[in-house]
Amino acid sequence: MSVQNETRRLTAPDIHARKGGEPLVCLTSYHAHTARIVDAYCDVILVGDSLGMVMHGFETTVPVTLDMMILQGLAVMRGSKRALVVVDLPFGSYEASKEQAFMSAARIMKETGCGAIKIEGGRRMAETIAFLAERGVPVMGHVGLTPQAINTIGSFRAQGRDESDWAPIEADARAVADAGAFAVVLEAIAEPLGRRITAQVAIPTIGIGASAACDGQVLVLEDMLGLSPRVPKFVKRFGDLGPSIEQAVKDYAKEVRARTFPSADNVYPMRKAGGQAAVTKLPERGKGPSRT
Ligand code: KIV
Repeated sequence: MSVQNETRRLTAPDIHARKGGEPLVCLTSYHAHTARIVDAYCDVILVGDSLGMVMHGFETTVPVTLDMMILQGLAVMRGSKRALVVVDLPFGSYEASKEQAFMSAARIMKETGCGAIKIEGGRRMAETIAFLAERGVPVMGHVGLTPQAINTIGSFRAQGRDESDWAPIEADARAVADAGAFAVVLEAIAEPLGRRITAQVAIPTIGIGASAACDGQVLVLEDMLGLSPRVPKFVKRFGDLGPSIEQAVKDYAKEVRARTFPSADNVYPMRKAGGQAAVTKLPERGKGPSRT
């Protein structure tokens, strides 16, 4: 007997088939609760290595490990049921050889159950992408600004703002597409270049700081929710959760100190003989001893 989920998850070929169609909606998520929310509206959930900066407070994505990606990838798979979940291969887990990339990708796919992986790099990764794609690993490419290369590029600067810089970025996107990637992220590139690459390649382009003409868009969830203290220009804050979280924490601290939380609603009364709950007598609000 086969065990099938009622909801069919989108696959890499489904996403590939959306080239030129209705825009693909993608967001990052790193844990089960946010994955559940995002899953209802997104085609792709990216477990990006930006989790190193967002969840762990690293300055760059360089310190992120394969184990970190697997742990959060598992959480996102548990929280979602419809979107294609794509997990990033972190720095150091795929660049040494195509065999190393395959072993890392296979570990992520076996241990999380995700449907695809993403790797950064254009022409230099083409051989690896082909090797993976031929062996059952759907690959999302990532060109333009590649944050894992921060120590060689020097800063998180937008790419291709002078037309003279376009050729290598276009060549990277074409190489990734020709190698068999099912989609490619275009990060932080000049708008006309994003538009031009989208017209040139046969796979969906997913823009982040690229162009509205891309076949889809992705953002880091915490950035668009207003939770990240510093965000790049390409981020639009669709929400401002910071102040409401702060207010909730402030209210909680006040109630704990005043002993008004937990109230009778939040504690377990004793059972009365005969099965009925006894009413617990609690101290009056604000009458408890003060902290100081
Ligand atoms: O790690 C990440 O979140 C990403 C997106 C910014 C595309 O790679």
